[in-house]
Amino acid sequence: MNAMTCRLQREAERIAARHRTPQFYVRFRAPMALARRLYFTHEEVIALREYVTPLLQECLGHGLLHSSRVGLDAATIICVEMEAARVERSRMERLMVLGLMAGLLHDISRGVENHAEAGADVAGRVLKRFSLTDEEILSVVGAIRNHEAFTVPTPSPKPAFQLLSDSLYDGDKFRWGRDTFTHTLWYMMSHQDLTPRELIEKFPWGMSGIVRILDTFRSTTGKHFGPEIIENGVAIGREIYRYLLQNF
Ligand SMILES: [Fe+2]
Ligand SMILES: [Fe+2]
Repeated sequence: MNAMTCRLQREAERIAARHRTPQFYVRFRAPMALARRLYFTHEEVIALREYVTPLLQECLGHGLLHSSRVGLDAATIICVEMEAARVERSRMERLMVLGLMAGLLHDISRGVENHAEAGADVAGRVLKRFSLTDEEILSVVGAIRNHEAFTVPTPSPKPAFQLLSDSLYDGDKFRWGRDTFTHTLWYMMSHQDLTPRELIEKFPWGMSGIVRILDTFRSTTGKHFGPEIIENGVAIGREIYRYLLQNF
């Protein structure tokens, strides 16, 4: 990333920091803390993270940071919904671990055409190294296959695995909020070697694409809290756009 893109990313972070934190990240601090604890202490999650880290290095802003955030938000949604349904703790934590693993693997084939399908196949092979049951592997694979936006997902016969699939999708699409403007955008700018003027020209088109995700959230929690995350990102995006117009 060149000095100009780095400077703009820092400015975008400053702008984002002035905007309020979306309710999902305020209200669910306890489920999020549990998701984070599992992410940093569960042996298999640690082993999978070590395995995917070198593979995720150059993924156009879809590297380890993206994948870990997707998994953490997916696991948080799982915790919120399973606690509400009074599911026993061990079953809930197991599905949260699967959510974290699905997050780490979901963009493993990001550079390939039809990356959800391709990534699902790779994930199926990778997960054989771990102590997951065949049914658990199939559920993670199915969730990854279902994570592409604007497609019709294949339903799962088991409610828990349906939740895994829906929460992976929502955790991924939550990234279309502020992460687009503090993170992904600048990797794209750097990768495509765009000047600030060229970025300005593409900006309105990019913003109109983001709002299309608003009504696609799938879990109950995602449907409730996802739109605010996107609106928060759009507000940040508008301010960055104004900053670019004023300065370039
Ligand atoms: Fe993806
Ligand atoms: Fe993703």
